[in-house]
Amino acid sequence: MKALVLSGGAGTRLRPITHTSAKQLVPVGNKPIIEFGLEAIRDAGITDVGIIVGETHEEIREHVGDGSRFGIDVTYVHQPQPLGLAHAVLTAADYLGDDDFVMYLGDNLIAGGITDFVRQFEGRQPAAQILLAKVRDPERFGIAELDGQQRVTRLVEKPREPTSDLALVGVYLFSSRILDASRSIKPSDRGELEITDAIQWLIDEGEEVHSQVIDGWWKDTGKLYDLLEANRIVLDALDPRISGTIDADSEVQGRVVVEEGAVLVNSFVRGPAIVGRGTRLVNTFIGPYTSIAHGCAIEDSEIEHSVVLEETRICDIRRMEDSLIGKQVEVGLTTRKPRAYRLMLGDHSRVGLV
Ligand code: TTP
Repeated sequence: MKALVLSGGAGTRLRPITHTSAKQLVPVGNKPIIEFGLEAIRDAGITDVGIIVGETHEEIREHVGDGSRFGIDVTYVHQPQPLGLAHAVLTAADYLGDDDFVMYLGDNLIAGGITDFVRQFEGRQPAAQILLAKVRDPERFGIAELDGQQRVTRLVEKPREPTSDLALVGVYLFSSRILDASRSIKPSDRGELEITDAIQWLIDEGEEVHSQVIDGWWKDTGKLYDLLEANRIVLDALDPRISGTIDADSEVQGRVVVEEGAVLVNSFVRGPAIVGRGTRLVNTFIGPYTSIAHGCAIEDSEIEHSVVLEETRICDIRRMEDSLIGKQVEVGLTTRKPRAYRLMLGDHSRVGLV
């Protein structure tokens, strides 16, 4: 059994962060999202892992390397253009050979790992097995209709009138039949080779497509709100640890991690929250559900329910919520005349001023 982790893609919904960075490397709880998937794969006993990379290949390669840090052996497969999940499978055809594999979307997070799911597939040997989660808003997802025995009878993309509330989670198990399926389908209206069409092809060919419904949470972090929610879930399970320095005028409350070399001066951190290594907080309040990455400097500010990436400086901001701030960003008040907002924002940035 191999694994194929999809870390190409355009990431248009997380612009401008994805203009310069891979969305799979955006951290939640200060840990890059892709690492959760790689660890779940390793914990299921799979060590032969292919990673699909696209435009952001250098950054992914630099971070994951040969995989030994995660106890896996990584082969990179370059997808020249993000032409769909089934296209990614075809791009990896040589790597996959005739082997069964788990396909894991590199920007997805799943509670409880994938070990049970993999074992069930190995025992049953269907052509494909999909993971499903009950959702409240099925019209936003690809959904599956099942017979009484957990077999999939039909997949529907973003149905207007949903006939099921079971959404496809970003983890799939496939036999090599998925290669035949992916070669047999045509691009969809949005010009992509859709994995749902490939799975539907298997069903139409009379192959068994099995399913398993997960009871824990699952998050596709491709959009800002979902990413903040993933950050919340991960921080809720944080093991509190204070490895940095907290001065006498500072306080931490609740589930908080202050990493090595971080310094709190006259500041208050209310968990769940994490302050990255070497980050300096001065006269600052960090509220619940906030992850501040390493090497940041935050002064005279209040930040809550946000994710701040590394080496960013934030000064005199009262108050910031529901935000995702990229690397090496500077946010602050200015006393320069004339008094005005002075902005240098990347394409597709979003700013809400009060
Ligand atoms: P998506 O989130 O469906 O697509 P995307 O990354 O292009 O994002 P957006 O819709 O915001 O533009 O992709 C799910 C995962 O699969 C993600 O980790 C990127 C990866 N992917 C590939 O590796 N190759 C592809 O061709 C596509 C479409 C996605």
